[in-house]
Amino acid sequence: MAHQLRTAFTKYNQGLALAAASTATITLGLFSSSSSTAKCDDDILHAPSYPWQHLGLLSSYDCAALRRGFQVYRQVCATCHSIERIHYRELVGVTHTTEELVAMASEVDVLDGPNDEGEMFERPGKLADALPKPYQNEEQGRLANGGALPPDLSLMVKARHAGHDYLFSLLTGYCEPPAGKAMMPGLYYNPYFPGGLIAMPPPLNDDGVEYEDGTPATISQQARDVVEFLNWCAEPEADSRKKDAFTYMVVLGFTALMTGYYKRFRWSTLKTRSISYVK
Ligand code: HEC
Repeated sequence: MAHQLRTAFTKYNQGLALAAASTATITLGLFSSSSSTAKCDDDILHAPSYPWQHLGLLSSYDCAALRRGFQVYRQVCATCHSIERIHYRELVGVTHTTEELVAMASEVDVLDGPNDEGEMFERPGKLADALPKPYQNEEQGRLANGGALPPDLSLMVKARHAGHDYLFSLLTGYCEPPAGKAMMPGLYYNPYFPGGLIAMPPPLNDDGVEYEDGTPATISQQARDVVEFLNWCAEPEADSRKKDAFTYMVVLGFTALMTGYYKRFRWSTLKTRSISYVK
């Protein structure tokens, strides 16, 4: 009997080990296959990875940086780029207070309607409105930018490989083209953009904006702030997700300990008994 039980335990433990090992192998396989995407284009400089604090497992967005980043977006990028997925109301408590955003939204004329006479009309913006777009349609955007369309920036951080590092490098990476590089009119040299030639003129200048909190507005400071803001636009739920995940992991850890204890408790009589057979 004791022997049979011991064999059953050994088999049970072996089965567990096998299951754990195969799960680990599958997980590792999944991770390694997703990170090794083929990069065929050699005519590009890959962005270095920067130590973004808001990406930490337990860290949150820096609201002062988000406020500065939104300012950079409004004063610089908004001339050409839209952030059509973000509404004023979503920025409440993130970059500005309700009153500030109500005032900011009301400065914009929004097309609404039709009214009772079937006419479209313009009204001051409200918190529920999306951030205004610079161009009415794609054609107008292309016409104003030599044929290139400035893409919507709502999800840009997610739409590019290592989005934050790429965007920061792109914004700060404009430089003189190397000797022999064939340039085309209306395009600017940026080694981080695939092909090296981009239709976006260098958008940032030292002191191009004046920060309300007195932070020196260097090019890299503005780039860092606007990238953090664009990261928030792409993942506004990141902070609450991390908070929820923390609670979840604590509860899961506690449950695992309790389960382990309970298992040992239930099996203790079987595991500690000794059976002796007497003739
Ligand atoms: C004068 C207009 C203009 C301004 C201002 C401008 N951009 Fe652009 N941007 C463009 C155009 C045009 C393109 C498309 C470039 C191309 O396809 O060659 C572009 C492309 C981009 C891209 C996409 C690059 C890619 O990999 O496809 C990003 C990201 C970007 N801009 C970010 C910004 C940010 C952030 C700002 C503000 C700091 C900004 N832009 C300001 C015109 C502008």
